[in-house]
Amino acid sequence: MLRSRILGCGAYLPEKVLTNDDLAETVDTSNDWIIERTGITRRHIAADGELTSDLAFSAAERAIAAAGIPANEIDLLILATSTPDNTFPATAAKVQARLGMRHGVAFDVQAVCAGFICALSVADKFLLSGQARIALIIGAETYSRILDWNDRSTCVLFGDGAGAAVLRAEESAGNGADRGVLSVKMHSDGRNYDALYVDGGVSSSQTAGHLRMKGKEVYRHAVVKLAAVAGEALQAAGLAPGEIDWLVPHQANLRIINAVAQRLELPAEKLVVTVDRHANTSSASIPLALVEAIEDGRIKSGDVVLMEAIGGGFVWGSAVVRW
Ligand code: UT7
Repeated sequence: MLRSRILGCGAYLPEKVLTNDDLAETVDTSNDWIIERTGITRRHIAADGELTSDLAFSAAERAIAAAGIPANEIDLLILATSTPDNTFPATAAKVQARLGMRHGVAFDVQAVCAGFICALSVADKFLLSGQARIALIIGAETYSRILDWNDRSTCVLFGDGAGAAVLRAEESAGNGADRGVLSVKMHSDGRNYDALYVDGGVSSSQTAGHLRMKGKEVYRHAVVKLAAVAGEALQAAGLAPGEIDWLVPHQANLRIINAVAQRLELPAEKLVVTVDRHANTSSASIPLALVEAIEDGRIKSGDVVLMEAIGGGFVWGSAVVRW
């Protein structure tokens, strides 16, 4: 039996930091409002000329170094992004070339904030079917380029960043103590297209557009759907919430993270939270949080990690991994 084992993770955050107080100088908001409603204190913003592919490449280099494998052994690269460098080719193609990957396949997936779970799900299937042996998955975003900086209801919520993971198909005993991806569950419901979207695009307006969101509606759906899909992923892995060591959620809002944890009856000590310093980095938020918890020693070999995310569409999903 094969399992997709995570060999290493890496992350990258742009140097520039934008605090709530910085934002309050340009839009009608306050540090207190942002912290109280979201838990966010600051976010990173890509420099002029720094592209999604640059962020993705830096995170990928670090993940590859952590995995300890040569880049040219990777035969699958999946980049999750809703802020690609160009309409086409896939941003993954640029990253593939920069990494020196000369075989296999590279492509983008678009599942907005659920992008990392989607990339993990697709990579897992490639690895388990034998179509690839070593996969690199990346979540990378430059949301600063699609924010309406005059709209206080959205511009305070997002940041830029990237995170990546290298996975390898490995033989496992199948005895219930396997390391690797234990389960992935995903859903979408396109009836909610207008709840969170970008009001531009090649086919519709020939402009990049700006992010628009019905915040309260998204919030309501998020708590219910994330708790439900996390429950499904746990059940598929044959685990109870009490067997989870770490919840690494998509980082959109601290209130959503806490509400989902409460529904799963997970104590605060098991939550990995970065939204306070990163804000919502969409597909990058889970791998960014993973890297933080690995590097500070919280996530250790053998730990069971539950991930969950929801994004525009809506599309949502959850994965369980034994580290
Ligand atoms: O990653 C994809 C998933 N995205 C999410 O999960 C986001 C989900 N939604 C949320 O996190 C929350 O709904 C928000 C953080 C976006 C908003 O929080 P809320 O508690 O739902 O606030 P609200 O939208 O109901 O706004 C409350 C008030 C309004 O004023 P009035 O109408 O009560 O006078 C807003 O105009 O807060 C006002 N407001 C602000 N005030 C200061 C909205 N944005 C701001 C702001 N600063 N930045």
